[in-house]
Amino acid sequence: ERGGYKHFMRKEIHEQPEVVEATLRGRIDLAEGDVYAAEMGVTPEVAQSIRRVYFVACGTSHHAAIAGRYWMEQLAKVPSVVELASEVRYREPLFYPDDLVIAVSQSGETADTLAAVKAAKAGGARVLAVANVLDSAIPRVSDGALYTHAGPEIGVASTKCFTTQLAALLLLAVYIGRRRSTLPQERAQQVLQALWEIPSHQREILGDADYVHAIAKKLVHAKDVLFLGRGLGFPIALEGALKLKEISYAHAEGYAAGEMKHGPIALIDEHLPVVAVCPRDAQYDKILSNLQAVRAREGQVIAIATKGDEAMLELAQHIVWIPKAPDEVMPLLTVLPLQLIAYFVANLKGNDVDQPRNLAKTVTVE
Ligand code: M6R
Repeated sequence: ERGGYKHFMRKEIHEQPEVVEATLRGRIDLAEGDVYAAEMGVTPEVAQSIRRVYFVACGTSHHAAIAGRYWMEQLAKVPSVVELASEVRYREPLFYPDDLVIAVSQSGETADTLAAVKAAKAGGARVLAVANVLDSAIPRVSDGALYTHAGPEIGVASTKCFTTQLAALLLLAVYIGRRRSTLPQERAQQVLQALWEIPSHQREILGDADYVHAIAKKLVHAKDVLFLGRGLGFPIALEGALKLKEISYAHAEGYAAGEMKHGPIALIDEHLPVVAVCPRDAQYDKILSNLQAVRAREGQVIAIATKGDEAMLELAQHIVWIPKAPDEVMPLLTVLPLQLIAYFVANLKGNDVDQPRNLAKTVTVE
């Protein structure tokens, strides 16, 4: 049942190209630059009336939601916020009838996310669930659902469900942007074409993963690891750190690279490995200067970079090369090496990768 892999997590990492295809299947019209997702119940009238998108989620799903907010603003041009469900539920949050609340949850059963959804409904907001498990509690109480179709995820550390959430949230931003006419058809076509090509790029990254062994050996003795990213790289830095924490039990912190000078730079010395999510996107020049600051303090840099980026050779001790792709779809690629790195570090330590200590797959009590 593990398909020849030692752990479910490894199997699920390698399933990502095919499950992302499942998320996209039947939903993309490349010629029209449009998305079909009638099951969500977001009619053109509803899409046009939304004043704010309000994402709620926990853990890995929260990281997907941060990327979702970015796309919702960049592509659909709808003001958006993203909140941890556990914070929303106790904060007397303000919801309005013209809010679209998007609850992101793999299991559809997370207690805090469900409570946040109920609070949103009580405030009169419309709720859309982005879930994996069909007919679970959160989709049931929501006004509509967009399912990720990733299949069952057994490993406690979420991997394939994260990338399919990203794919679904990007589809959603295109869908809403087209209905509001805020996203030009040509741009939508480019984004959808790039999304369509993601599974083959993912296969390329997963196919030749020898690079991970050297990096894992380097990280196996690290007590602390800093993950940096900017823009769409920021949620990926958070996710890379969470994966490492969950299964390798090393302390890892994901940080917005622009915040370095506001504190974490004090931690940098030759003992602190820094994993940088730095593809050649719009944020590239900025993160490059953050990395120069790390190097000036002897920090060890492991870079997730775009093929052909020679400047990285000077800066990083280890580089994982990612195929070229448009900025919007980069998170669906840059996260894969981080999942593999966490997996190999945990494996070298002999940890129970699929069932890490203290963790439950679904947190149905607070
Ligand atoms: O089922 P959900 O997506 O609502 O779960 C949310 C978190 O509990 C979950 O993502 C958790 O952080 C995972 N262990 C991450 O690998």
